[in-house]
Amino acid sequence: MIITIDGPAGSGKSTVAKELSKRLGIPYIETGAMYRAVAWWCRKNNVDISDRRQIKEALERMDIDFVTSGDTFLVRHGSETINNILYEPEIGELASKLAQIPEVRKFLTDQQRKLAASGSCIFEGRDMGTVVFPDADYKFFLVTSLEERARRRVLQLKEKGIEVSFEETLEAIKKRDYQDENREIAPLKPAPDVKIIDTTNLTVDQVVDSIMSEIDAS
Ligand code: DC
Repeated sequence: MIITIDGPAGSGKSTVAKELSKRLGIPYIETGAMYRAVAWWCRKNNVDISDRRQIKEALERMDIDFVTSGDTFLVRHGSETINNILYEPEIGELASKLAQIPEVRKFLTDQQRKLAASGSCIFEGRDMGTVVFPDADYKFFLVTSLEERARRRVLQLKEKGIEVSFEETLEAIKKRDYQDENREIAPLKPAPDVKIIDTTNLTVDQVVDSIMSEIDAS
């Protein structure tokens, strides 16, 4: 079973996917972490991301593995798990830029399909229901007001030990939305057959209940 959850930054995809994963006992894959991992690696290795050739070489050399362990999704660099160090705002910015490059998208789309081949999964991201898994069993798209998304992102980063201001976060989200929605390939948009859920005034449990009732009803 493949379930996709797409939506803009801060719409609650990760939190909802995490809770849904607990209820269903299947892993959830944060595909944003995969774009962030490529960004992290490029920064660490001084890759000039305006140079296509350097990016292609980087994708060939990149010693990063994406694996599931039980219900958990791990981004591995050698023997280290690096999920926790991918959430700096600067890495998010770089990831959004790299996400516009066709070679990067193809590389990660292939990895995502490989992960899906190993069993039931929840995939959350931007293009899961439109491009990567158009035939997914269940597709959801979360929308939320801009202010609420900024508020949630500030809290989420605080939990990870990163302090940012509300205004700075709001502007960063606006910029990222624009980039994600207007890129040429795999832009952020709802698939025609997706169920749209507005999470602005809903708790995580209410969103998950609504997803579960869609699944149970079919
Ligand atoms: O969800 P996130 O903020 O961790 O994602 C980081 C960036 O990765 C985001 O700006 C867009 C990109 N991304 C994408 O293009 N496609 C995906 N499936 C997931 C993320």
